[in-house]
Amino acid sequence: AALPGLLASMPKTELHIHIEGSLEPELIFEIAQRNRVALPYSDFEALRKAYAFTDLQSFLDIYYSGASVLLQEEDFEDMALAYFERAAAEGVVHAEVFFDPQTHTDRGVPFATVINGLTRAADIALTEFGLSASYILCFLRHLSEEAAFATLEQALPYRSRFIGVGLDSSERGHPPSKFERVFARCRELGLHVVAHAGEEGPPAYIEAALDLLKAERIDHGVRCLEDPALVARLARDKVPLTVCPLSNLKLCVVDDIAAHPLRKLLDAGLVVTINSDDPAYFGGYLAANYQQSFAALGLDAGHAWQLARNSIDASFAPEPRKREWR
Ligand code: ADE
Ligand code: ZN
Repeated sequence: AALPGLLASMPKTELHIHIEGSLEPELIFEIAQRNRVALPYSDFEALRKAYAFTDLQSFLDIYYSGASVLLQEEDFEDMALAYFERAAAEGVVHAEVFFDPQTHTDRGVPFATVINGLTRAADIALTEFGLSASYILCFLRHLSEEAAFATLEQALPYRSRFIGVGLDSSERGHPPSKFERVFARCRELGLHVVAHAGEEGPPAYIEAALDLLKAERIDHGVRCLEDPALVARLARDKVPLTVCPLSNLKLCVVDDIAAHPLRKLLDAGLVVTINSDDPAYFGGYLAANYQQSFAALGLDAGHAWQLARNSIDASFAPEPRKREWR
């Protein structure tokens, strides 16, 4: 009975959250109105009703259209601040937050507008909520390597505002090998490297993310279970997986939350973390992801402390900060 309270209050980090995926329908409509952007839905309730997904792509289409209302620094600030406030209330002490600059720069929004709004929100989150936040710039893998290089170029004047790079968007047909050179350049720049792999794509994409991109964490990674040698490697090398149970349910990666492989991954000795991915679209923030998986899979307080501990260990926060949270 005390478990839901523990899950919502224990100190933990969130390592897999797309800030554009935290944009709630109400805020989409509020920002659309002030920016005079027209939306193909009558109101926020009609928009939320459209959130019925069959796979990753069916979600991405509506996720990119939701992000189209974001034009001004304040829009990015308001979006991120709303997320930080909710996260802090659920025991999140630190967040490493993905953002997708190409979704915005391709609409003519300057990179500076995006990063300035996000930076201001992170500064406020630290002073107001005691939540430390870092940003991870994600390249959209359905776009070209050349476009990723151009985005990196635009980002370089703001190198100190983000700690790493990631790879997201449509996985199938866009293997990590497509971005080997741009990630090599990012590593030379001292950026951390993570990548989505093994969400819809095969285990070979997880191996490629490790071997070619030198990913330090794998985002999702649930399909590793199809390859026992890969599971052994992930366990041996303690490669963290940022698992997102409600995302996997809503995008039909699993048919039922009770069929989610979270417990199998834990039992295999992997450094598993629980995360929310795109909470405004998938029906729950971090605590809901913990609570619903714990209830469906029969996990206990021991698992809770292990997962919180993993989330701290797997973060890129400085060791002294980690010690404060453990
Ligand atoms: N962008 C936002 N959420 C994503 C996910 N779950 N997979 C790939 N790209 C994404
Ligand atoms: Zn994701």
